[in-house]
Amino acid sequence: MYISASELRFYIVRLLTTSVLLGLSEPLLSKPCVKKDFGDGIVCICNATYCDTIEQNIHLNSTNYAIYRTTKSGDRLLKNVYKFKKQQSTHSGGTTFTVDRDTKFQKIIGFGGAFTDAAGINIASLSDFQLLNFSLKLEDYKYKIPYIHQAQALNKRKIKLFASPWSAPGWLKASGKMAGGGPLLGRAGDKFHKIWATYFVRFLEDYKKENLTIWGITAQNEPLSGFLPNYAFQTMAFTAESQAGFIAKDLGPALHNHGFEKVKLLIMDDQRTALPRWPKMVMSNPEAAKYVSGVGVHWYMDFIYPPYALSLTHEEVPELFILYTEACEGYQTWLKVKPVILGSWQRFETYVQNIMDDLENWVSGWTDWNLALDMEGGPNWVKNFVDSPVIVNKDKDEFYKQPTYYALAHFSKFLPADSYRISLKSNTKQSTSQLQSLAFSTPEGSTVVIVSNPGSTEQQYDIIDVNRGTIPGVSPANSLLTYVWW
Ligand SMILES: *[C@@H]1O[C@H](CO)[C@@H](O)[C@H](O)[C@H]1NC(C)=O
Ligand SMILES: *[C@@H]1O[C@H](CO)[C@@H](O)[C@H](O)[C@H]1NC(C)=O
Ligand SMILES: *[C@@H]1O[C@H](CO)[C@@H](O)[C@H](O)[C@H]1NC(C)=O
Ligand SMILES: *[C@@H]1O[C@H](CO)[C@@H](O)[C@H](O)[C@H]1NC(C)=O
Repeated sequence: MYISASELRFYIVRLLTTSVLLGLSEPLLSKPCVKKDFGDGIVCICNATYCDTIEQNIHLNSTNYAIYRTTKSGDRLLKNVYKFKKQQSTHSGGTTFTVDRDTKFQKIIGFGGAFTDAAGINIASLSDFQLLNFSLKLEDYKYKIPYIHQAQALNKRKIKLFASPWSAPGWLKASGKMAGGGPLLGRAGDKFHKIWATYFVRFLEDYKKENLTIWGITAQNEPLSGFLPNYAFQTMAFTAESQAGFIAKDLGPALHNHGFEKVKLLIMDDQRTALPRWPKMVMSNPEAAKYVSGVGVHWYMDFIYPPYALSLTHEEVPELFILYTEACEGYQTWLKVKPVILGSWQRFETYVQNIMDDLENWVSGWTDWNLALDMEGGPNWVKNFVDSPVIVNKDKDEFYKQPTYYALAHFSKFLPADSYRISLKSNTKQSTSQLQSLAFSTPEGSTVVIVSNPGSTEQQYDIIDVNRGTIPGVSPANSLLTYVWW
């Protein structure tokens, strides 16, 4: 059977990495943010010759530590180095956070964003990204593959890619149409399901031919949206039960029979509200369970469903990792929000709180949606305009790094794959404190503590590492700090 490559364009290739979001390769010296306030807060302006970068962890030894600071008042990953103190501070009744490297939680997979067609179109509109002379005309070749190669070339660490299908082509669907929802024709194990499984294999093979190894796939992007009437996007309906059947009888065997048994298969790839039922159901099918590695979660309904559902999922199916596979701001069309708000600090805080809540509840990584969008929040063929950490202003040949970009960078820059979240014991109940804090140890040997202060008053505390000393911590109002030491 011949599958035309154009039918593969309905995949999103999402990038999971530590620093593709930081765009350019890092020189030794940092370049500061060129600030601009459009009325709602500060963005950093980049153009063909200039972009702010962060300083590497140079000059750190066993007696000192670095703090990277982002604040509502305008600091963006501003670095300072100080010496550990021998004694605890005497200030203010004294909140303490004590690092315990021996108590490990989940392993980190990565942080990133999606190489969507929209992202590629925006990057292509800038002069600073020289495209290789790809003579191919398809979206994959034009808007994704070249940028994925560039991102890999600019990263000293290996990037991980995962892909996710929007929908099978119309002729495999009960509705006869690719746009809108509805299920695959027939049932698990029949020819329609077998053909659709072959599409996954062909996609993996075609990307492999381009020297791109796909680390993971999700069985279906937002399968529950396939049940919504009049849904504009291309989507496809699965229940947990029908997804388990498709994986057990078709997708799992197809991947294994074609040499893709190492590709991580993620189930669900849908809202937190389906937890923990969906993964529990799929994993109760032993034929499906043997092919599944992780659960994908989208953030869009998180505001009505507590993060505890993630921990519950970990308790129910501890063999699966949990990965946030899509998020963006400006999607709340029912509230008539502006898709793009340049400089929005509120969106910075929504990102930070969500990432911290998720990491606190066994999540292994977090993926934004479009890596770059235009000033309107597009392009998007169903006019689903949203926000992005990078907004491209084609007319001025420049782009803007939004506060949400730095929200991600505070994690992605410092937590390479295979870092562990470790225990950070506080003498104050998290629920009574306006601070949110997490600690990690990295395979490179550094310890990372991230402290968010969404409140409007400065907070003081001590961070204690018994092997090093005490950090007298100060979180300014509305700030995010990443502490690093080796
Ligand atoms: C690019 O940005 C830098 C730093 O703000 C500025 O000095 C330079 O003039 C800009 N270049 C163009 C072509 O706008
Ligand atoms: C650590 O680095 C600081 C600053 O560069 C330096 O003053 C100090 O002597 C160094 N300490 C050790 C033990 O190397
Ligand atoms: C780009 O490809 C076109 C069409 O194949 C060819 O005519 C042109 O010379 C190529 N340009 C470069 C710089 O390789
Ligand atoms: C893939 O890599 C091989 C070996 O480095 C190279 O020969 C080949 O041209 C590459 N293919 C593509 C499509 O980049």
